[in-house]
Amino acid sequence: MSEPAQGASTDEDAARRERVQVLLRRASDTDGFVPFDRFMEVALYGEGVGFYTREGSPFGPEGDYYTAAHASPLFGRTVGERVRSVLAAIPEGPPLRVLEVGPGDGVLGAAALAGLAEDPAVRKRVEYVLVDRSPTLSVRAYERVSEVGRSVGIPVRAAGGVGADGPFLGVVLANEVLDAQPARRLLWDGEGWQDVGVRLTDDGFVPATAPRDRPVPPPELPRNPAPGTFVEVSPMAEALLREVADHLVAGLFLVLDYGMDESELLVAHPFGTLAAVRRHRFVEDPFEDPGTADLSVFVNFSRVRAVAASAGLREVAFRRQAEALGEWGFPRLLEEAIRSAPSREAEVRTRLAAKNLLFGFERFCALELAPRERDDRSPTAT
Ligand SMILES: C[S@@+](CC[C@H](N)C(=O)[O-])C[C@H]1O[C@@H](n2cnc3c(N)ncnc32)[C@H](O)[C@@H]1O
Repeated sequence: MSEPAQGASTDEDAARRERVQVLLRRASDTDGFVPFDRFMEVALYGEGVGFYTREGSPFGPEGDYYTAAHASPLFGRTVGERVRSVLAAIPEGPPLRVLEVGPGDGVLGAAALAGLAEDPAVRKRVEYVLVDRSPTLSVRAYERVSEVGRSVGIPVRAAGGVGADGPFLGVVLANEVLDAQPARRLLWDGEGWQDVGVRLTDDGFVPATAPRDRPVPPPELPRNPAPGTFVEVSPMAEALLREVADHLVAGLFLVLDYGMDESELLVAHPFGTLAAVRRHRFVEDPFEDPGTADLSVFVNFSRVRAVAASAGLREVAFRRQAEALGEWGFPRLLEEAIRSAPSREAEVRTRLAAKNLLFGFERFCALELAPRERDDRSPTAT
């Protein structure tokens, strides 16, 4: 394994690596093989040692990367506008919920919530619920978003899962969450698909492949691609879609993430899309020092859309994120932000951040899904 993470003491680092090794052993098959999704699960979410579960925030200049939410508050404000318009169209009556899955440090939620409060009718009916599987980030998000909630009069709470409190009406929001789901990596060897992962050794592990009979749920994998082709498939991402479909009664499920259709992925990324990032730089070896770098894969939107449809979700829109932002009110919000900038320097910063949002996140898409039967009876998602 690699050098200690910067700033960590050698003892702490050795203990962390030892724990990673124990978690990998626990995740291995009897022959010592750990398929990549289980490796990624340990690297991102291993208790106390995963990239998202260790102390400290992975976001921002002191962290490892930025999401669109960190690029500019206009992102959260614009998403908040879309959420508000969906909530406002749900007929008077039952309480409404905005459930943010994977809020991270709460930057998106804080900005979106401020916008929601601008509609008094929505404000008095809605609660904001945070669901993050990382205990450390869950606390961070709660602190940040609940502070805004208190100031605008919208209750904020954390929950243990999308379906923890039963069915609900409202909006489910997931920004850059599907790409952070543990994924299987499958390699076409000319005759069949092999699982890629690691094999445990006496002093660590080595990258390995294993012919396996673990079935891939539908839709089926591409047929006869060129030998050496990799695809990534995330059973956990697909389970999350189904969980939302099972609990969202009316409203919208908004998925914002980077990815492509499967046909584009096979052409543009025949060796797969797995990326490791540490301190704002790509790391060449994704197996290096698990827990100290972010691991992610592009969302395969063909699969996601097919799974969503089979789970009972109707597609309302699927387009580039920049296009969706434009339609949800970004130009107006940008103009307001520029007009109210306290200085010329702040104005320039706002413009640059806006440019980054529109042009720097070019592979990002916005997928809007609505519950099928119930939506047909309500005007919530158009
Ligand atoms: C890439 S970060 C995105 C953070 C935030 N949405 C943003 O835009 O800044 C992914 C977040 O999703 C959380 N997460 C991943 N899988 C999850 C799941 N199944 N349920 C809830 N949270 C999850 C992670 O712990 C992490 O906080």
